[in-house]
Amino acid sequence: MIVGGSMAAVKAPSVLRRLRERGAQVQVIATAAALEFITELSLATAAGGRVATEATWFAARPDAQHLTLARADAAVVVGASADLLARAAGGHAGDLAAATLLSVAGPVLWVPAMNERMWHHPAVQANAAALRGWGHTFLGPEVGAFGTLGEGRGLGRMAEPEDIAAATLALLPPAPAVRAQDLAGWRVVVSAGPTREYLDPVRFISNPSSGKMGYAVAEEARDRGADVTLVSGPVQLPPPAGVRTVPIESALELRDAVLDAARGADLVVMTAAVADYRAAEQAQEKQAKVAGDVTVHLTPNPDILAELGREKAGRLLVGFAMETHAGIERAAAKAARKNADFILLNYPTREGTGFGGDDNEVTLVRPDGTSEAWPRTSKREVARRLLDEARQLRD
Ligand code: CTP
Repeated sequence: MIVGGSMAAVKAPSVLRRLRERGAQVQVIATAAALEFITELSLATAAGGRVATEATWFAARPDAQHLTLARADAAVVVGASADLLARAAGGHAGDLAAATLLSVAGPVLWVPAMNERMWHHPAVQANAAALRGWGHTFLGPEVGAFGTLGEGRGLGRMAEPEDIAAATLALLPPAPAVRAQDLAGWRVVVSAGPTREYLDPVRFISNPSSGKMGYAVAEEARDRGADVTLVSGPVQLPPPAGVRTVPIESALELRDAVLDAARGADLVVMTAAVADYRAAEQAQEKQAKVAGDVTVHLTPNPDILAELGREKAGRLLVGFAMETHAGIERAAAKAARKNADFILLNYPTREGTGFGGDDNEVTLVRPDGTSEAWPRTSKREVARRLLDEARQLRD
């Protein structure tokens, strides 16, 4: 929170109290002008800590205090004066507040308080417009009683502390949900996305798998403390932070990467949409078109899930299956044949689930033929339930 040189600076402690009550950690910067309106002690008391001022900025210290302060998730300027707006819009860095505003990475909320005529001056409006253009937001000024010179009522009064606190908190990134680290110590391998089986250097057989289901499993496992390796075919998703991502293209590359990562793993989840066939002979040169029909000779790819099932070495093994008919029966047979602990069955023909969407509707199918239909929900929630089931099997 930056407190500017305005009568409204006296409301800063009230905003501070509200922010701290709601769990925010607030570092206060008071400009020299602000300290003419409110004492450093009042601010420090409300902030529950030291206030940064011109004096602390220039105190002998190894760090540049404005850069440390600028790491905040958000900045709010309370009692923003016309002068502070001008300094920020002009890119000044000669005082701690302005220098911090030049470096701050998070969003900035301005809460101006000044005389109505000053607020409406084209210079002030141009500065506010420049700041808005850079993505800063404004709260107020509001209509109400302001000033000490008997101006009476008009536009210029600062927004109420409760509204300032709410608007500031709304800028903050959502707090990471506290998650039980119930997979701490687990090594989890997830395969995701499609494979590409090249016919020649520029043509391949593939499928529309988006990778979203597998990425959701990898992220959920990571958040629950697991060490995660994600073997991913080509998808439009950023590699998740904190996850070892191994990019692959073909089923044969997927096989090598998964078998390698699976050594010593506790759980392997195969969400990848592996192409069942590849070109028996991949042409090294681009194939020109010929008159008439063409026959492509395809040969089966190894079934990686089945291969993992043949020698489980204590690992849990989860597969996915897409069926358009006799789903549960076929999925149970598949789980038994591939020695998977369970299979999540989805229906590619149902609207909004399966390929590409953010939701999925699956049925958990065990090799013994028992099953549980899960309601349609987000892929992240499906991932959560999948990992719950794996953990129960392990216990
Ligand atoms: N899978 C695999 N290797 C393959 C093909 C599939 O590991 N070559 C995995 C998938 O990642 C998925 C599961 O096996 O977890 C089910 O795939 P699916 O294609 O439905 O099964 P198939 O055995 O190919 O059955 P079908 O021929 O009936 O489609």
